[in-house]
Amino acid sequence: MPKYSMFFFCLNVWSLSGVFGVDSVKSVSVTEGESVSLNLTEIQRDDEIAWKFENIMIAKIYRKDNTSRFYEDSADGRFRDRLKLDQTGSLIITNTRTTDSGEYKVTGKSSKIPLNIFSLTVYVPVPVPVITRDSSQNSSSSSSSSCSFLCSVLNVGHVTLSWYKGNSLLSSISVSDLSRSLSLHLECLDDSYSCVVNNPIRNQTQHLNNTELCQTCSDHCICCCGFIEAVIRLALSVLVGVAAVAVLVYDIRSRTLQHEQTSLSNSK
Ligand SMILES: *[C@@H]1O[C@H](CO)[C@@H](O)[C@H](O)[C@H]1NC(C)=O
Ligand SMILES: *[C@@H]1O[C@H](CO)[C@@H](O)[C@H](O)[C@H]1NC(C)=O
Ligand SMILES: *[C@@H]1O[C@H](CO)[C@@H](O)[C@H](O)[C@H]1NC(C)=O
Ligand SMILES: *[C@@H]1O[C@H](CO)[C@@H](O)[C@H](O)[C@H]1NC(C)=O
Ligand SMILES: *[C@@H]1O[C@H](CO)[C@@H](O)[C@H](O)[C@H]1NC(C)=O
Repeated sequence: MPKYSMFFFCLNVWSLSGVFGVDSVKSVSVTEGESVSLNLTEIQRDDEIAWKFENIMIAKIYRKDNTSRFYEDSADGRFRDRLKLDQTGSLIITNTRTTDSGEYKVTGKSSKIPLNIFSLTVYVPVPVPVITRDSSQNSSSSSSSSCSFLCSVLNVGHVTLSWYKGNSLLSSISVSDLSRSLSLHLECLDDSYSCVVNNPIRNQTQHLNNTELCQTCSDHCICCCGFIEAVIRLALSVLVGVAAVAVLVYDIRSRTLQHEQTSLSNSK
């Protein structure tokens, strides 16, 4: 009994890796508008190679007379005038659209088993994020409240929006609906802040360098410390002045008193 199961196990592994001819589904990602070449992994010797999109025939190569045929009306005509085949049998899709995303299978004539399977994902281009002032933060009257920003992307889903300070991530959200924003609140502007929007294959960055709304932190610090220092200096000098005057007045008054007392005792 165990012998038989071992036999079937081996047979299964062998049939998966060998007979199907496909090691795995190859994932290919591209940004809308770009061209993509779905490359056959091996040189195919078959007389006839067929390309299918979601199991719909879209192209064939006949090796004997070196011709190819495109099924322009299949798959709702979505690939019309956008398919090419090269000599190796690789499929080139030009000017890709998001609707080209899906499974592409290559089969030979001699076997119904696919030679290659590709999973194509066409992403919309990543827009440059927009940084605006976060006006919801100016209800509080503190001066630093103006140093608040929103980073947003419009009309794009399935991206991630992040704030970075230099190279370190401050905050991040996944945007699944069409417009979302991520806020950043700063006391002052000290380093380089940037907002990054990315999908699995691309990113776009916008740098925050609006110093009109934020003090730079060094200014902020010098301003605060300088002021306090000045106040302390002023208070100290006033104190010293007052003390000096007090000592002087006391001295004069005690001398005068002493003088009066001596003259008084003399006259008696
Ligand atoms: C297919 O091959 C071409 C040239 O050899 C290469 O530029 C392209 O990136 C390949 N396509 C993929 C999806 O790997
Ligand atoms: C097949 O046709 C292409 C052009 O469509 C040509 O460049 C190529 O040399 C031809 N190959 C053979 C073996 O005839
Ligand atoms: C914040 O200030 C801006 C102009 O400085 C103003 O347009 C906006 O309505 C204010 N928002 C709130 C919530 O007070
Ligand atoms: C943005 O993409 C570039 C390559 O295109 C990569 O070097 C960089 O690390 C990416 N940045 C982020 C924040 O993902
Ligand atoms: C920040 O400055 C860079 C150039 O130094 C500029 O390309 C970018 O648009 C600026 N960002 C903002 C939000 O003004």
